[in-house]
Amino acid sequence: MFAKSYGATTLGVDGVMIDVEVDCANGLPAFDIVGLPDASVKEAKERVRTAIKNSGVKLKAEKVTVNLAPANLRKDNPGLDLPIAVGLLAAYAVLPQASLEGRLFSAELSLEGELRGVNGILPMAVKAREMGFKEIFTSRHNANEALLVDGLTVYAVDNLRELVDYLSGRAELSPAKPNIEEPEEDAFADDFADVQGQFQAKRALEIAAAGGHNVLMSGAPGSGKTMLARRMNSILPDLTTQEALEVTKIYSIAGLLPPGGGLIRKRPFRSPHHTASTTALIGGGTYPRPGEVTLAQHGVLFLDEVPEFNKATLEVLRQPLEDRKVTISRVNATLTFPANFILLTAANSCPCGNLGISDGIHKCTCTPQEIKRYQSKISGPLLDRIDIHIRVPQVEYKDLSSQSKAESSESIRKRVVAARNVQLARFRGTGIFTNSQMNHAMLKEQCPLGNDAQSLLEMAFRKMGLSARSYDRIIKVARTIADLEGAKDIGAKHVGEAIQMRNDVGMSAE
Ligand SMILES: Nc1ncnc2c1ncn2[C@@H]1O[C@H](COP(=O)(O)OP(=O)(O)O)[C@@H](O)[C@H]1O
Ligand SMILES: [Mg+2]
Repeated sequence: MFAKSYGATTLGVDGVMIDVEVDCANGLPAFDIVGLPDASVKEAKERVRTAIKNSGVKLKAEKVTVNLAPANLRKDNPGLDLPIAVGLLAAYAVLPQASLEGRLFSAELSLEGELRGVNGILPMAVKAREMGFKEIFTSRHNANEALLVDGLTVYAVDNLRELVDYLSGRAELSPAKPNIEEPEEDAFADDFADVQGQFQAKRALEIAAAGGHNVLMSGAPGSGKTMLARRMNSILPDLTTQEALEVTKIYSIAGLLPPGGGLIRKRPFRSPHHTASTTALIGGGTYPRPGEVTLAQHGVLFLDEVPEFNKATLEVLRQPLEDRKVTISRVNATLTFPANFILLTAANSCPCGNLGISDGIHKCTCTPQEIKRYQSKISGPLLDRIDIHIRVPQVEYKDLSSQSKAESSESIRKRVVAARNVQLARFRGTGIFTNSQMNHAMLKEQCPLGNDAQSLLEMAFRKMGLSARSYDRIIKVARTIADLEGAKDIGAKHVGEAIQMRNDVGMSAE
């Protein structure tokens, strides 16, 4: 007999519905799965057969063929165990075909018939709803995730026997209800109030948060670069519901959702180690998985000690920084992952770290060649995409020993949010959201400079020998500084501060 059930897999960050067709006929006993299953899906036959047997259903050995359609897409999600199992039971007339219609099944099976959690339930559930499915049957582990999709009834099932009883009308099953453990608020969360002094660096991060600018911090070891970067998220606006759903989908596919969690509401902060591979950074692999740039979606990607990274690894960041997405080509598919993040980078100013310290105690012992080699690790084209370069000096003793608390993240965040709202209004309908995303044409239109601002910039160019590349970046940053102040026009003081944010000592493109 022939039967059909419905499962799903993922491609990039989206779910894809899979029709599972099962045929059983007289002939030599066999169990074949066709339709580009990968190794983990091929093994489904062993799990499904044993799980069915251990659920108390006896099936006569026949020639079974399972086809996964569309055939041209490689299937690598073990969640296809469940639709194969129920499809098989329908082909053997244990379940009525009608009990499978309009329902998505997704879970891995244990040999005992227990349902196990799989990655990517959220994008699969989103897709199922789009395709008009009404119900999804999944493991208890994945129920909260599926419940994030409105208009879909979710059944959290413990084992195959329970599901068979329900589908054949022998027992009731009630729909799952959200059971989300709210994460406890961390009273000791990283806050800018802990960072003493370093006013310029804090101001730079405030501007970066407001305008979505990428930042390079260079300076002596121990000056607080890592400490500052780790506090960046505390001054960014909350995720919108739409953004939160996008981020949660990505983490669902990567299998990084916390158990019992609902929607991810915090902006991601990713800080890959400098030994990270290119694939780990931008994603990929035989079955492409999201990399760090995608996991940092709508949040921050922090590369600490950036000259220690492999140069070729850093080069691959150019595409995501430019396009806010990454394209990964594979033999069987070309995939696009979103990659819209603020890039924070930190570096010592030379291999020994003492370059530029003028306290008479710390002396730089590096040769000019060593310094040059170290600094050239970040190439011009990458630096070009970093609007703000600042030097973080050593903390002064009087700042460090001060008893007074610095300004809190919450109060900085209020200004950031206000400046973001100005930008949202400015760019409405253009598809961009922050000043950092402006192209040259937009810059000309949105950022006319007054005479004072014009002449200050001209002077800076002549005296500091700034390059043409710096020009656009200075104006973008000046626009953000004016927005933070609520000023309509870009004035000389805004340009002046923006020039300061291009401290070209040490690491620099010029
Ligand atoms: N401005 C500061 N205020 C308070 N503590 C600081 C400050 N700068 C550095 N520290 C202390 O020094 C430690 C080292 O700072 P870190 O951020 O690792 O420096 P870097 O990354 O520049 O080498 C921090 O964990 C913190 O305890
Ligand atoms: Mg550090």
